Amino acid sequence: MHSSDEVDPDDYPLRNRNRTTNTGRTRGGRRSSEQPDRTRGGRLTEEERDLLTALREEPPASGLPEDADRWSTWDTGERGPLPRPSWLVTELAAVDQELGVLKTGKEADVELIRRSVPGTARECLLAAKRYRAPDHRRFHRDAEYLEGRRMRKSRENRAMSVRSSFGRGLLAEQWAVAEFRVLGELRSAGIPVPYPVQRVGTEVLLEFVGDADGSPAPRLAELRPTPDVLEDLWIQTLSALFGLAEQGLTHGDLSCYNVLVHNGEIVLIDLPQAVDVVANPSGARYLERDVRNITDWFRSRGLPEDRIDLPEVSRSLSQAARLLPR
Ligand SMILES: Nc1ncnc2c1ncn2[C@@H]1O[C@H](COP(=O)(O)OP(=O)(O)OP(=O)(O)O)[C@@H](O)[C@H]1O
Ligand SMILES: [Mg+2]
Repeated sequence: MHSSDEVDPDDYPLRNRNRTTNTGRTRGGRRSSEQPDRTRGGRLTEEERDLLTALREEPPASGLPEDADRWSTWDTGERGPLPRPSWLVTELAAVDQELGVLKTGKEADVELIRRSVPGTARECLLAAKRYRAPDHRRFHRDAEYLEGRRMRKSRENRAMSVRSSFGRGLLAEQWAVAEFRVLGELRSAGIPVPYPVQRVGTEVLLEFVGDADGSPAPRLAELRPTPDVLEDLWIQTLSALFGLAEQGLTHGDLSCYNVLVHNGEIVLIDLPQAVDVVANPSGARYLERDVRNITDWFRSRGLPEDRIDLPEVSRSLSQAARLLPR
């Protein structure tokens, strides 16, 4: 920011001359002939200094309240499934405020957002997952994604495979589209995932899983549960995996980093690459890998071996997903 003394007095007021502000005050303008010439302090007159101060204190022309970063995006993009949770702020007068970064990753950044209706107590916290175009790097999941799905428009397929900037942008948006859709399906099927609030371009807005003060729920990886709690988390995880399998899906990147635990309950996150276990030629392999990764964590935390029958779990999940006859 320049100091006021750096502003050229012959330039600044002239550029803003005769504009009426949204408080009805007139910005800029020639020095009125009724007003006596005021004394000069440095390079700016006092009048010019007052003018600059008033301009700086003025709210932006959009009328966006101070502290807000944007108007609520509720009227744009795709919205999550019905019924909508009662905590969700859907008023169009709401504003979004960025409270900070929850996590930056290779493929996406996750920001904490407060959506609130100014002048009221209505507010909710959201996690904004923003996919980044991979630029010169590759998404490590792109190849698997492209292997399992084909877009109908061949121009888009070609763009993604040659990784033009158009293609890279498309891939980032495709991840957002894929994650939003899967979350909607899973949420409607009663599987514990964050409620998908909206998708706008490459941004997916999610229910924030954490406390009202903005502290995010820990990942499974961060926990050292007592045996009873560990057993309970295992049962919840199995139940979520069966829920996914009944939808014909497996997570595709399941690990102790993609499971949050809030108030003792697990929530699966990070699902853009969820795999259709029947349609994907490697579906069975992804399912087994997910089961192995997550059971490894439970075993490492001391879940008794006789509680983890890996082949049996994989077989039952394959049956639930109709990969094997029941
Ligand atoms: N809905 C949410 N509520 C609270 N925290 C969240 C939410 N979604 C994501 N996070 C936080 O952001 C982190 C990254 O999210 P996610 O795993 O979806 O993105 P990612 O870019 O794939 O990250 P990574 O590459 O680390 O797996 C999570 O580990 C979690 O700490
Ligand atoms: Mg993740």
